[in-house]
Formats: sequence, structure tokens, C-alpha cells
Amino acid sequence: MIAIIGGTSLLDTASFTGWPDATVSTGFGPVVMKRSGDNAVFLQRHGNPCVPPHRINHKANMSALKELGVRKILAINSVGSLKTAIRPGTLVVPDDFICPWHIETFFDEEARYMVPVMDEAFAKDVFGICRMHTRSVRLGGTYVQTTGPRLETRAEIRMLKRFGDIVGMTLASEAALALELELPYASVCSVDNYCHGIREIPLTMDEIFANVAKNARMIERILTTFLNRNAA
Ligand code: HPA
Repeated sequence: MIAIIGGTSLLDTASFTGWPDATVSTGFGPVVMKRSGDNAVFLQRHGNPCVPPHRINHKANMSALKELGVRKILAINSVGSLKTAIRPGTLVVPDDFICPWHIETFFDEEARYMVPVMDEAFAKDVFGICRMHTRSVRLGGTYVQTTGPRLETRAEIRMLKRFGDIVGMTLASEAALALELELPYASVCSVDNYCHGIREIPLTMDEIFANVAKNARMIERILTTFLNRNAA
């Protein structure tokens, strides 16, 4: 069983419409996902009704995947770019993340310490699949997670661009929890905008949604190849 986790980039996708809903109960609440037999599940991380990023129940989501016996997770994350060279329309398969201001953990009651390292081999594999569909994809890059739901101020972006390459609101929480559960996790980040202040003109949500729609078909093709290779 493999899992695809999608967010803003896959809110309107038709890729999984034939897959029936399955509800998994966890110690953190029930999680509804779409299931294709014993091969694959698709989890919309924002749920239905859709909750904003700072209210996503990441622990329930990741526990549900563990409960189902998922052996690897491919996440799709919408991001803004901190670097002029990383243009909207590009895909990034990150190899590290920053989120020291909000650390999600299952280790609340016991003194266990995890050293967070993203899965290099899995990321390379995912990069290879992306390359089959586009030349605009980068292997490696640091994802900075902000809390949301508001976007970042220009001053915040001035600070963050010294440390990272892309900004989003979900990957670090998921990747850290997946590591604690020993679930291999890789992400395809869809660069949907330049972060606020990277360009002179102010960022708008309309710009982000327009680029999400532009990138969606390519991401669907990547997911089809990933599923054919891993869930056949
Ligand atoms: N900031 C944070 N999250 C995002 C952005 C952004 O600019 N674009 C898409 N998700």
C-alpha cells in the first residue's frame, strides 16, 4: 500500500474520483481518504470540509496511513519561491526543512529523540519520475514551513530567504511525523508563486490559484507514473 497526500495543488483533481472513500479511526480522530483496493490511498490533507493549514490534524493523518500499513508516502505541496532562479511552474523535490517554531511529535509522553533526515533514495526516485514529465524540476532544496493561514510579510520573507529555498505550510509537520513512524516520505513541491516581496509587485492569492491550476495537469501525470510504478 502506498499513499499520496495532496493539498491545495490537488483540491480539484479528478485523478481519484473513482476511488471509494475509506474511513480510518485513529487515537487522534477519524480520517477519510480515497482507497484503491490494497494498493494505494489518496489523502486530502485539508480534509472535507477543508480546514486551513494551521488546523490540519497531521497526527491523525499520519497515524491513519501507518494503521493501514502504508509503506511509502508521496506528498504534493504547494509552495512559494524564495529565490528568483526558482520560477513559478518549477517543481522542487526538497531534501531538508526548517520549522523550529512548531514541532509536531508523537513523542509527547516518552523521552525519545529523532534526528530528522529526509529519505535521499526515495527523493531521487521521485525526481526521476518528475524528469520524465518536465525539465523544470530540482532535486534538493530547503523547505521552510510557516504556520499560516496568512501569507508571509515582506520582512519575514527577507529573513527566510537567507535560510531556505521554498515556503509552504505543511511539509515539515508531515515529514517529521512520518520519520517518527518510520514511514518513507518524499514530496513534490509545486512552485505556485514568488514569495511576497521577492518581486516588486505585491503577491495575490489569485496569482497563486492561477498557477496551481497551471501546474495541476503536470502533477497528475507525475502521480499516474508514480502509481503505475509503485502500486500496480
Ligand atoms: N507562502 C506560504 N505557503 C505557500 C505559498 C507562500 O508564498 N505559496 C503556496 N503556499
